[in-house]
Amino acid sequence: MSQQNQNILIIESEEGLRATLSSALSQRYKIYEASTAESAKKLLEEHDFHLIISEMFLSSEGVELLKWIKAKKSCPVIVMNTFSQIIETQKAHDLGTDDFISKPFSITEMLVKVSKVLKDDPESPNEIQSGSDRDFCRVPIEDYISEKELGHNIFIKLGENRYVKVLHRGGKIDPERVRSYKEKGVTYLYIRQEDYRQILGFTVKVAKLAADDIAGLITEEKKKHFLKFTGEMVVQNAFVVGVDKESLNSAKEFLESCMSVLVDDYDSFSLLQMLSDHTDFLYAHSLGVSAFSVMIGKQLGWRSPKTLFKLAFGGLFHDIGKKEISQTIIEKQRSLLTHDERKELETHVTRGKQILESMRNAPSEAIRIAYEHHEDLTGHGYPGRLRRRGIHPLTLVVSVANAFCEHTIRSHPSDTPVSGPEAILLMEQFGRAGLDVTAFKALKTLIKNQN
Ligand SMILES: [Fe+2]
Repeated sequence: MSQQNQNILIIESEEGLRATLSSALSQRYKIYEASTAESAKKLLEEHDFHLIISEMFLSSEGVELLKWIKAKKSCPVIVMNTFSQIIETQKAHDLGTDDFISKPFSITEMLVKVSKVLKDDPESPNEIQSGSDRDFCRVPIEDYISEKELGHNIFIKLGENRYVKVLHRGGKIDPERVRSYKEKGVTYLYIRQEDYRQILGFTVKVAKLAADDIAGLITEEKKKHFLKFTGEMVVQNAFVVGVDKESLNSAKEFLESCMSVLVDDYDSFSLLQMLSDHTDFLYAHSLGVSAFSVMIGKQLGWRSPKTLFKLAFGGLFHDIGKKEISQTIIEKQRSLLTHDERKELETHVTRGKQILESMRNAPSEAIRIAYEHHEDLTGHGYPGRLRRRGIHPLTLVVSVANAFCEHTIRSHPSDTPVSGPEAILLMEQFGRAGLDVTAFKALKTLIKNQN
């Protein structure tokens, strides 16, 4: 069928947009216009259409119209949506909308979309992404309470492997709108993985640099394993501890997003595997320190995803040097270690530093964290007997999280972990002088706020 014989109905109350669309599309298609649901219904009863392009239906009358169209007509429907209509977008999708186009859009974008839906050009990109869930990253909606200009597109998830763009790169987010969405139960927004990596300042190079057989070692199954166990383990650890639930969920979500980026990087993935293969205790401890470092950082008011990522990364790999220490030493009670064994154990900080230095992407702060996390503000730590001024601020946070997790997370079979408040008491009695006061206070607030 020639394009001029294809009927398109445009339903749009805003006259200017309706006229622009009509004029652009009339060069290829036969166009009908409606400004209300009522006038649209009348046209739909009188004519057959190959496509309907409609503004988002906000009123119940509009929803009824969409239901009516889907019940009586077989033609596809494209809905024009905006960031202020996330909930309506989901509803329209559930009612059978075939495609969306996010306002504002260019006429070219609309022409591409129409061609795609009418199958004139099956290769053109589609707004409802059919790519894998692995292409997108989940970000808690409250992370968008900022009026900054967006450096990336924002999507919502409509179903498995189905995403729709709701805000363009360069757009602005109204903080009030974000708050109202949160109240209505919209918890996450989605962005593309590569955009998230850029936000975190972490460039994944493996796919391009490594040979296919090396890249192939990171199988989807292995990735899923880490993503699944990260969340479960963090919650399990915190369950023993008893921590403020909101802070915990927020740290867990952040960590899961970071992990979805890390598993794509060959170096990070290999280290994660080494951690989990060494002992379950080391992996649990590392995840715990990572999660608590992020929680403390957030409690301190740190909001930059880059800073929080460095904390999460540093927490996760602070003890990576232990992979080179024998399990017998690691699992032995500290008080029973011989002098030589203790010295051997202490080398994990220099070994950790070297391992992270050999990675292409490890943030420099994470290398400092691995090297300095056993330093002590009183100058009695190792390896450098540094005092406050020599220790990186992010290390100060990870050291508090590390001390806390040593009490609360089982580090060898005969260990009996204690509750959060008990761990705080132990830290008050035996280690407070060596820890950063502000970070320790933030940790105490997290434990005090538990429900
Ligand atoms: Fe350590």
